[in-house]
Amino acid sequence: MKHLLSMDDLSLGEVQQMLSLADEMSEIQKRSQPKVPALRHKTVVSLFFEDSTRTRLSFETAAKRLSADTMTFSATSSSVNKGESLRDTVETLSAMGVDAFVVRHKTAGLPLAMTQWTNAHVVNAGDGAHQHPTQALLDAFTLTRALEMGNSLAGVRIAMVGDIRHSRVARSTVRAFVLLGAKVTLVAPASLLPPSLIYSNAAHTRHEWPVSVSHDLDEVLGEVDVVYLLRMQHERMNAAFISSVNEYALHFGLTAQRLARLPLHFKLMHPGPMNHGVEIGVDPASIPGSLITQQVTNGVSIRMAVLLSLLGPAATNEMTKEERDVS
Ligand code: CP
Repeated sequence: MKHLLSMDDLSLGEVQQMLSLADEMSEIQKRSQPKVPALRHKTVVSLFFEDSTRTRLSFETAAKRLSADTMTFSATSSSVNKGESLRDTVETLSAMGVDAFVVRHKTAGLPLAMTQWTNAHVVNAGDGAHQHPTQALLDAFTLTRALEMGNSLAGVRIAMVGDIRHSRVARSTVRAFVLLGAKVTLVAPASLLPPSLIYSNAAHTRHEWPVSVSHDLDEVLGEVDVVYLLRMQHERMNAAFISSVNEYALHFGLTAQRLARLPLHFKLMHPGPMNHGVEIGVDPASIPGSLITQQVTNGVSIRMAVLLSLLGPAATNEMTKEERDVS
């Protein structure tokens, strides 16, 4: 694997391999000195043109735990503000000796374009409403480990609720969940579903979205094992997609009343950041099945696994026992 751009590029076997590698990375993280020299002398650049807390910091933590050198690019204080193009920026950084770019940008397809401008590896950390593959991998890792199902989600019933239309997380995580055998139901008002799902029953739509669809959260709640909430992506909306936030919360928010109707074993997930009072009206810390903090913790292990897969000594099979064990 030269780049990680989209979940669509990964087979079931490759996803499962990544989850297994993340298990090894999480063991490293439990050590008193959670650091191995696997990526010594490699340089990883965070190139974020959109805001981020979890993804950016967990990639930087992951790179440091693998002993890579890290460079952080800040769009607001860079020569981009003087009119430098993105291509020139990438070529300039590449000339400094970069081994991997971790990139987030509002434009779908920008990470793919970057692969034409640099010989370095490119990791998509979120491109518009298109893809966020490491979020999908960390979600799959978190849920399979919480349900103790190995590298499978066979038969697990998952409701993904909210703004699917503008969500790169939905486009990535649904693919990971379905690959692993889960049955996914998207729950949203029609205005927040991708147009292809509303208007088309064509084969390519069913291939792109191998899911069921509901507009009634209350109907779905009693029949699911997992509720995955999504944030309203106001920053990607160019029109009014809902009549009001309050009305959305009334019909699609996880309220205390809805919580009471969920089965005892249910798991709650959210990629963050959360909008309290909108998609979630309860304190997630009070929900025993909440995996939200675990998703953040596992984000570091998954990103270590991704960086190691791309940059490790000809991938991980050449990493010596000494390299894995020395801390
Ligand atoms: N889930 C996620 O991508 O969070 P950030 O925007 O904080 O990175």
